[in-house]
Order: sequence, then C-alpha cells, then structure tokens
Amino acid sequence: TRDFLIAPSILSADFARLGEEVDDVLASGADIVHFDVMDNHYVPNLTIGPMVCEALRKHGVTAPIDVHLMVRPVDRLIGDFIDAGASIITFHPEASDHIDRSLQLIRAGGCRAGLVFNPATPLSYLDYVMDKVDMVLLMSVNPGFGGQSFIPGTLDKLREARRRIDASGRDIRLEIDGGVKVENIAEIARAGADTFVAGSAVFKARSDSDPHRYDGVMQAF
Ligand code: DX5
Ligand code: ZN
Repeated sequence: TRDFLIAPSILSADFARLGEEVDDVLASGADIVHFDVMDNHYVPNLTIGPMVCEALRKHGVTAPIDVHLMVRPVDRLIGDFIDAGASIITFHPEASDHIDRSLQLIRAGGCRAGLVFNPATPLSYLDYVMDKVDMVLLMSVNPGFGGQSFIPGTLDKLREARRRIDASGRDIRLEIDGGVKVENIAEIARAGADTFVAGSAVFKARSDSDPHRYDGVMQAF
C-alpha cells in the first residue's frame, strides 16, 4: 500500500489571483502544488518562473512545490528555483546535456530530483541514475498545454516504470501528468502511479458554494 498524492497544476488556475487559488486548493485537500515552467523554446508556450515560486512562498504557502521544468537549457534555472523555495525539481532528460550533473545540482540544493518522460521518451534514461532520482514523472500528453487528452499507451509505460522502481528497492515516487480526470484516475493508479497531477480537471471545477472552492472535486479525486 502506498499513499496517493494529488498535485493540482496551477497552469489552469486564475493567474490574476494565484495566491488565493493555491490557498483554496490546498485547503480543499491537495497535497502538492504542481508548478509548470515553460520557456517557449523546449515547449511552445510561456508560463512562470522562479519569481512566482518565491511569491507563493512569501504569500505563506508551506506545501511542497513540485517544479516541472519544460526548459532548455536546464541547469541555470535549478539554482534559481532552489533559492525560490522549490521542494521537488523535475526536468526532461533530453533537455539537459549532463543529466547526472543536473540531478546532482538539484539534490545539492536540498530539493528532491526527478526526470520527466514525454510520451515517446524511453525509460532507459533511468538506467544509470536510478540512485539519483526521487521521482519519475511520466507525461501522458505532449507537454506545453493543459486540457489535452490522456494518451492511453501511457498505462503500459506506467506499469514498466513501476516495475523498475520496485526492482530498485528505492523510495521513488511515480507521478503522472496530463489528462488526469476523476473518471480515469483509478485506472491510472492501478497501473502504478502514486502521484497525480491534474490541472484543468481541478481548476475548471471551482465552486464558489464550496467552503474552500475545490472541496467537491478534491473529494471526487
Ligand atoms: C502540460 C503540463 C501539465 C498540465 C496538465 O505540459 O505539464 O502539468 O498542466 O494539465 P491537464 O491536467 O489539464 O492535462
Ligand atoms: Zn506539468
């Protein structure tokens, strides 16, 4: 038995009132804040950087902040996010020239480190760094946008990732990101995921009649 964590992606939150949105979703039961960083280079979209992470910390957010770097190059931003209060930093291995070094930089800054796999990126990137990762994040959409549909082939890849993690005997979380909904989360959990990013499914379900705006959807998850 492993514990399941829900990580709402603030990509789908109302950025004009981000602090309140994060407070609301955490008060409604979210475990982690998923923070999508896009650079209009590695992915065709542009979002938020270390200043916004730091602003959330100054606002009073104490929950883990799970920084998903969709940027190239990777390394310089690692230090900035460590200083900004990140808890977990994940990056796409094909976006780093020196994967081992990037992982070491993250851990040296006191954060947990992870690799992110696009739908067509092979898990073999894990082969020589399993002892340096704390999280494996499988993309179930092509990165860049919220609101896309879950790619079904990711379920087999999740089972493969779960086998690798269990065989390693290490304490590594298996996170899934993209198209996670109330309707498919059980099947995704059965395939081996333990940490679930959900963006549009959470933030589009805002209900002003809920005490904390997201109680209904968080309970459904
Ligand atoms: C996509 C991002 C996701 C995105 C997920 O590149 O990494 O975190 O916010 O959004 P949904 O849950 O709407 O697919
Ligand atoms: Zn993400």
